[in-house]
Amino acid sequence: MDPIEEFNSERQQAIEEMRKDPHLAKLSSDWLLASSRYNYVRNFKWLGRPIIQIPTDIVALQELIWEVGPDLIIETGIAHGGSIIFSASMLEILGGDRHVIGIDIDIRKHNRLEIEKHPMIKRITMLEGSSIDSGIVNQVKEYAKNKKSIMVFLDSCHTHDHVLRELQIYSQFVTEGSYIVVFDTIVEFLPSQLSSDRPWGSGDNPWTAVQEFLKDNDSFCIDKSIQDKIVLTAAVDGYLKRVK
Ligand SMILES: C[S@@+](CC[C@H](N)C(=O)[O-])C[C@H]1O[C@@H](n2cnc3c(N)ncnc32)[C@H](O)[C@@H]1O
Repeated sequence: MDPIEEFNSERQQAIEEMRKDPHLAKLSSDWLLASSRYNYVRNFKWLGRPIIQIPTDIVALQELIWEVGPDLIIETGIAHGGSIIFSASMLEILGGDRHVIGIDIDIRKHNRLEIEKHPMIKRITMLEGSSIDSGIVNQVKEYAKNKKSIMVFLDSCHTHDHVLRELQIYSQFVTEGSYIVVFDTIVEFLPSQLSSDRPWGSGDNPWTAVQEFLKDNDSFCIDKSIQDKIVLTAAVDGYLKRVK
């Protein structure tokens, strides 16, 4: 067998066995729960800016961006800017005319200043407002005109209604073969007290929004191969691939 094929096939077999391992599944969910008590997800930076993601999700996004090669990435939820700077740095490596649009209802002054000073700002446009506001969506439509390959990451307000609306709006931009990634679907599987100070929780979160969105939409399917291989993810059932 060709050595590359052999490597891929062995890896695929191990992932398949890993997927069926209840011990690893239990350890992983216990670990996610235990680390979430310390806000583990806040512990990392990308090129100097805090990125609020689990590292394995960042690696998965890196693979997706490299494989799909989008010329536009739309992100809802900027916070400290780490995720838009991550996306912009990937587009910088891909080269050519590629851009990130980040949308946040509240871009804090200190975060905006740091993002604007960052070398990756050359590939970033920030829009301030709600991701479901028609004025914001109209601006995104302008940026999306004539783009060949578009990817979307949703990581803003995590209530069912908000994420469902985001899915309905932003899924339209996603090109065939590309992805819309919905973060914090994991809320469905964590104890409610962890989100007791938030308007979302078990039964009302990004995971429930994805389930409802997929009921009426056969253009997207959950790409389980991603969560199967990374195991530790905040986007359980949240890697949605546009298949038609
Ligand atoms: C989890 S943080 C985003 C983290 C960021 N994607 C990262 O990985 O570093 C969520 C952000 O969503 C923003 N947000 C909340 N409601 C929003 C809305 N309706 N529209 C847009 N952004 C919103 C918050 O202001 C906050 O900065």
